[in-house]
This record gives sequence, C-alpha cells and structure tokens, in this order.
Amino acid sequence: MSVWTPGSGALSSPGRGSGSWRCWWWWVVVIGVSVGSGDPWMSAEACPSYCTCSSTRISCVDPERGINAFPVLQSEAEMENITDLYPPTVTIANQGSFSSINDKDLHYYKNLRNLTVTNSRLTYVSKLAFQNNIKIQYLNLKDNNLSSLSWRIFRHLNMSYMILAGNPLHCSCENMWMKLWLGEEADNQELRCIEDGGVRKLLSRLTLPNCEVPMATLNPSKVTLMEGKHVDLSCTTSGVPSPELIWNMALVSNYEIETSGQISVLRLSNLSSLDHNSKISCTAENIVGEKESALMLDILFPPKITKLTDAIPDHHWCIPFSMSGNPKPELLWYQDDTLVMEGKFIVTMIHDVTEREFHGCLQLDSPTHLNNGRYKLVATNKYGTDTKEVEAHFMTKPWEEADKDNYYDPFTDAPTTEPPEDGVAVYVVVGIAAVAFTGFLLMLVILKFGGNSKFGIKGPSSVISNDDDSASPLHHVSNGSNTPSSSEMGPDAVIIGMTKIPVIENPQYFRNTNSLLKTNTFVQHIKRHNIVLKRELGEGAFGKVFLAECYNLSPDQEKILVAVKTLKEASENARKDFHREAELLTNLQHEHIVTFYGVCVESDPLIMVFEYMKHGDLNKFLRAHGPDAVLMSEGQNTRPVELTQSQMLHIAQQIASGMVYLASQHFVHRDLATRNCLVGENLLVKIGDFGMSRDVYSTDYYRVGGHTMLPIRWMPPESIMYRKFTTESDVWSLGVVLWEIFTYGKQPWYQLSNNEVIECITQGRVLQRPRTCLKEVYDLMLGCWQREPHMRLNIKEIHCLLLNLAKASPVYLDILG
Ligand SMILES: *[C@@H]1O[C@H](CO)[C@@H](O)[C@H](O)[C@H]1NC(C)=O
Ligand SMILES: *[C@@H]1O[C@H](CO)[C@@H](O)[C@H](O)[C@H]1NC(C)=O
Ligand SMILES: *[C@@H]1O[C@H](CO)[C@@H](O)[C@H](O)[C@H]1NC(C)=O
Ligand SMILES: *[C@@H]1O[C@H](CO)[C@@H](O)[C@H](O)[C@H]1NC(C)=O
Ligand SMILES: *[C@@H]1O[C@H](CO)[C@@H](O)[C@H](O)[C@H]1NC(C)=O
Repeated sequence: MSVWTPGSGALSSPGRGSGSWRCWWWWVVVIGVSVGSGDPWMSAEACPSYCTCSSTRISCVDPERGINAFPVLQSEAEMENITDLYPPTVTIANQGSFSSINDKDLHYYKNLRNLTVTNSRLTYVSKLAFQNNIKIQYLNLKDNNLSSLSWRIFRHLNMSYMILAGNPLHCSCENMWMKLWLGEEADNQELRCIEDGGVRKLLSRLTLPNCEVPMATLNPSKVTLMEGKHVDLSCTTSGVPSPELIWNMALVSNYEIETSGQISVLRLSNLSSLDHNSKISCTAENIVGEKESALMLDILFPPKITKLTDAIPDHHWCIPFSMSGNPKPELLWYQDDTLVMEGKFIVTMIHDVTEREFHGCLQLDSPTHLNNGRYKLVATNKYGTDTKEVEAHFMTKPWEEADKDNYYDPFTDAPTTEPPEDGVAVYVVVGIAAVAFTGFLLMLVILKFGGNSKFGIKGPSSVISNDDDSASPLHHVSNGSNTPSSSEMGPDAVIIGMTKIPVIENPQYFRNTNSLLKTNTFVQHIKRHNIVLKRELGEGAFGKVFLAECYNLSPDQEKILVAVKTLKEASENARKDFHREAELLTNLQHEHIVTFYGVCVESDPLIMVFEYMKHGDLNKFLRAHGPDAVLMSEGQNTRPVELTQSQMLHIAQQIASGMVYLASQHFVHRDLATRNCLVGENLLVKIGDFGMSRDVYSTDYYRVGGHTMLPIRWMPPESIMYRKFTTESDVWSLGVVLWEIFTYGKQPWYQLSNNEVIECITQGRVLQRPRTCLKEVYDLMLGCWQREPHMRLNIKEIHCLLLNLAKASPVYLDILG
C-alpha cells in the first residue's frame, strides 16, 4: 500500500498559548477599539445552542438534544476564525440521529485538526467530506454504524491517526486498506470486521482472494535523450481488482497514448528542450489503494541565451542574463573581444535555477570607465554554442579637472588613481562640479571680504544654498519622511536601526526588484500574534515606535523585549522601500550594529522588529551621566554617576568596531552621531537608532531646501562642499562622535549658528580639545579631522588605538589625576 505510511508522523502538538489573542490585543492597541470578554468564540450566539463551545473545541455530546448534522455556526467567517485559533477539535458523541458527513458539512472548518464522532449512528461519509479540511490529522470514528469507508476519502490528507473500532465493518476488499494502513495499530484497537456469515474477525487476519494493492512500473525508468528524438515509455500495472491506469504530465512535446489491458504505452516524439526536467507519472488505482511510478525527462540540448540586458547599478553592478542548456553550459565573457578574466571584482554569479533556466549576473564590483564596452556572453556545452551581446556603460570618464588627491580607494585601503565612485556620484560630480565649485569660490570671496561676524564674515555663507538639492538630488538625508518613495530617495537608501540613511554600496547585497533574480537574503517573518505591544516609545515621520514583547524569537527564551517600528502610510513605494530595507538590514549583522529581527507583513501596519536597547540613544545617555545630569534629572534624588574615562573609551571603542564592520561592507553611514547610537545593558553600545532623531534632535541638522536635513556639525569639508560621502567622511564623523563622548554629549560647535559652523569647517578649523580628554584621544580626533580624506586615520587603526587605550585606561586615569 503506497498511499499511507502507517503510523508515521507523530501528531503535531497543539499550538502554544493564546496566540491569536495576542493578535487581538495588538489590534486593540493599534486601533483603540475595545473588545469585550476574551472568549475566542466572540459571542455566545456563535455557538449552536445544542453544543458547548470553548476556545479549543466544539463539543456536541448531549444525548438529550440530538443533532443530525454538523453544527453550523452563525457565519462562515466565524467558523474560519475559530478553527484558525488552535488546532481545533470538534467532538460529536452520543448523537442517535447523526448518520452522515456530507460533502459540504465541514466545508468551513478549514483548519480542523481533530475530529471525533463517537457513539453516534454515523453510517455514511461522503468521498468529498474532508475536501476542504486538509489539516485533519486525527480522526476518531469509534462506535458508529460504518460498514465500509473508502481510502479515497483520505487520499489528499496527511493523517497520522485514525480510530475505527466499534463499527460493523464488512470483511470486504473495500476495507482492506485499513489493515494495510493501520498495521499493528489495527490490533491495538482490536479492529474487527464481519464476514458474510456474521462471524467477527480481527481485521489484521483478513485475507481475501482477488484483493491486491495495485502496482505500476515505468519502463525505461530513466530517459536521457537529445532534443528532437523519440521515445516510448511503457507503464505496466498489476493488482486485483484491475486498477485504473492514469498518465500524468504536462508536456510541450507531442505524444500519443496506447493502452491495452494492464499495459499502456506513451509515445513521445520530437522531444522539446522545454520539457527538460518535466515529470511524467503513471498511476495505478483500485479500491485497495494506488501506486505511482514517475520519472523526470533529461533532455540534452545546446545552450540558448534567452536574455542579456543592460547593466543594472546595484550594490554591485550586474549585467543580467538567462540561459539554458543541458548539460549546463560553460560561460565566457568578452569585453570588446577581449576575454574577461574573472576574479574578485568581476565574477559570473548564478542567482537562480529554475526547471530549465539559469538566471544570473556578470557582477562587477565598482566598475570604472575602463569597464565600459560591449560585453559578449558565450555559452558552450558539448552540443553547441550560443552568444549574445550587450553594451554596458558604467561611468563617464571622470574628473578631467577635479583634484585627484581626494581619491582614496576604500576597497583596497591604498591610494589609487581610479575613483571608486558610486554610480550616482558620477553624474552628480559632472553635474555639480561646476555649480559647487563656483559656490566654493563664492564662499571664499565672502570669507575674504566678509565683515563683522565672529569669523570676520558679514552675511551668511552661501555654500549651501536653498536650491542646491537640484545639484545633488540623491545625496541627501531625507527628513520629510523616513520612508520616502523609491524614486525620491533613489536606490541607494537604507536604514540602520530605524533611520533611513543613504548607502553607497553593499556588496553583500544584490537585488534587482524588476528581474526574476533571487537574492540569498531571507528576511525573517514574524507572526503578528507573536508580537505584544507594551507601550509607545515615540513617533517619527514614518510612524510609531513601540516597546513590545516578541514570542518565539529566540530558542532559549519564550519572549524577549523588542522595539517595533510601524510603517504609517503604506503606499506601493513605501512598501517596496520597506522590503528593500528589510533585506539590507538582514545582511547587516554585527555585535555593534543594532540587531534586526525581521518583519511582520501579515497585514497593515507593516512592522519591523529590532532589538530593544534599554537606555535609549547614546546622546541622552551621555548627558544623563555628565556633570549637568542633576539639572536634567529634575528633582530626582539619585544623581547618576558620571562616566569615567575608561567607560568613555569603552563606548568609543564599540562604535569604532561597528564602523569597521560597516566599512568592510562598503556601507557609508553619512549620519554617524551619538544620537544615532543606542545603549543597552552593561554599557553595550550599538550603531542604530529609533528613527526619531530628526524630530527630537532637529537642531543637529541644517535644513536645506524643503526636505533635506544635513548633519553639518558632523560633516567634513568635502561633504559640506561637494556632498561627497565616503568611508573617510564617516571617519571624520567618528572623530566628532569621540568629541561628543568626551564632552558628555555636548553639541559640536554649540556656540555657533549653522552658517558659522559651515564657515568654520570649510575654513579648516576643528573642535577644541574637551576638558576631560586625554591627549592620545584628542590626537586621534585630529587624525580623523585631516582635511584631505586620504590623510585621515583608517577606521581599523582608530579601532585598534581605542581598544589599546581602553585596555590601558586605568593607567591614564592616574596621569590625569
Ligand atoms: C505529513 O506529516 C508528517 C508528520 O506529521 C510530516 O513529516 C510530513 O512532511 C507531512 N507531509 C505532507 C505532505 O504534509
Ligand atoms: C475573522 O477574522 C478576520 C481577519 O482576522 C476578520 O476580518 C473578521 O472580522 C473575523 N470575523 C469574525 C466574525 O470575527
Ligand atoms: C488532538 O488529538 C490528539 C490525540 O488524542 C491529542 O493528543 C491532541 O491533544 C488533540 N488536539 C487538540 C487540540 O485537542
Ligand atoms: C446502520 O447502517 C445500515 C446500512 O449500512 C442501515 O441499514 C441501518 O439502518 C443502520 N443502523 C442504524 C441504527 O442507523
Ligand atoms: C520538432 O519540434 C520543433 C519545435 O519544437 C519544430 O520546429 C520541428 O519542426 C519539429 N520537427 C518535427 C519533425 O516535427
């Protein structure tokens, strides 16, 4: 018997806890609707009066008030909801007039798992009775009036347990499957059948002549052939009664079927390569059961390149292609007729293999104008060759006149002559070089001839004019919404924690949303009922942030505290961004980057789940542990202890460690500041934030035009002047973060207005040494604030230095006195 595996699967354990009730409460919180009692049945009326209903079962067991059909609840939706809650149980017992389960009786009990009908008068179960109840696992039909039951009733189910004892079953071939399926279990149940003379017999002893499980055999059992060839497949069946023989396949190739008796021949002609890997099966079926024999066609054919399209800028550039061929073709690429040597920076990646096709990319890491050209793909296997060509253009010849010193290759950590520009900047550079440079000159003029301000300047600086968004449309930090449309933000935006920041490149990540290519990123999906909101933490432009409990997230804790970010508005674009961000965040895993657990997208609002960091943002934390803490703690008697030097170094070292990681992923943060770091227990610090800093810390940003907010106090001259953001500009910001830490969270240049700050920074002035700061640490800051990006300390060096200082800090403290 082939349909069932006797006694195989264990029963799945009933669902844990009151899962959906959490779901309900979620909605109570979110939409503010109050819901009455916690009875999952919603209302008493929902339960038929002759039954009793609880959260886990419908039970109709009272012999006095008999029923003759399945209880039908008030509304269809309720039946679905109820059965969704738990692995539900329907129990019907002692019902003298309950005699049949008909086609539609259980139609709405979609999620039914346990069904018990006992001690009633069940005589007939329709073949389609459980058609809609594919989750049934446990069926108890003890002590009824069943004389026979067809295996076909259960053919689509994955039953793990069935009780049939106490029924007047006939010792007929139709019931033979029970013996085969139940195996020893039949004896455990003392399952008996009645022979024609009325003798009761153990079902396990039942032997009948002319009652045999069918068999099916395909011959040949493997088909490996060139396309265009012909082949005959024969299927031989056996079994008594004679089984019905059914071919099952969906083929493009021509075929004919000839059946005579127990043998059937499938004649395939002119095999098409489109049928490669198609399944052909032959099934034999009679009242005792069914048996299938199947094979996969292996059709050999020469390569075909079905797609080769324009290069797509992503975290890597990608020239997408799709091709087929069996055996799998070898691929070679030619750029303008020169063989492309694949290596670390140019490599062919296959991202997805469908039944017949391979989909992939020629992946280019930071291509330059030297990579521009005509790309030819040559696919070869032993049956032939196919080629296709495409023009690829990555960047215009850059920087004809701009200063080459500014270049510094973040990928090799060595100065190079080739600019490692991201795709966007290329266009920006060409477009804005003139504009920005003119602006710079203008500023110099103003600086030179300025009047009476603190820095000898009269009017406000015009480096950042109100309309220079147009010059650099993609290099802005958006304020208006943290989930702006894809088009507005450009494809290079990501959030860390919950603030959207633009990103230059992440080679770990590949995705072209318009193609069929799959990414290796699997965003974790969290069930809504596993998230229980506790309280609101705040609100940003994107939506609200809540503290919540999340169940079943980690294997060793039942529930953990998480921060939950909700997406307020869910336009098509916002949703796309949301998914994209989730994938990017999934790829950013480091002990000093806030942990992203996953998303919940079952229904609106869309949710992202992050690690909860108990002490909130680092800026607030620093201020709360500084000399001014008493002023801030508003009458609380317990004055928090001031941070020590070694604790500050410990904080700084952790942020540097996170930045080393981001740099290794070719992420450029662009908004590194203490407000965008979080503090957890035991002084654990991570990069990431709750997405509200542009609202809470709006004075840290300089508003440009309508919706661009620039953290100028953290930005190096080249970012202010050219909006050029690189790993080196992040290093500058890290220096400012050090300054913030050692001033207990003071705002950099707090005594100056935004325009004055711009003047100061572009003039080459740097922040002063904080009072409590070691010389070594200030030297480190100065190393971050070198005007020339390539002169700045390397992020790895900074981390090393901080680590060493942190280790040695007790000594240094003594020196400080
Ligand atoms: C059937 O159930 C068993 C265990 O209950 C499980 O291992 C198996 O994957 C299931 N098969 C299908 C097709 O659902
Ligand atoms: C059943 O659940 C759905 C979705 O959760 C909900 O929209 C519907 O109102 C529920 N129906 C009842 C009767 O509670
Ligand atoms: C379903 O039946 C099985 C077997 O008796 C039992 O172990 C399980 O707890 C039942 N599940 C529910 C939800 O009642
Ligand atoms: C039991 O089923 C048989 C048919 O199989 C029927 O004739 C008989 O009336 C049923 N007995 C009861 C008590 O319903
Ligand atoms: C075989 O099939 C191919 C396409 O699948 C068709 O072009 C060709 O004419 C067919 N040959 C014969 C002999 O039918």
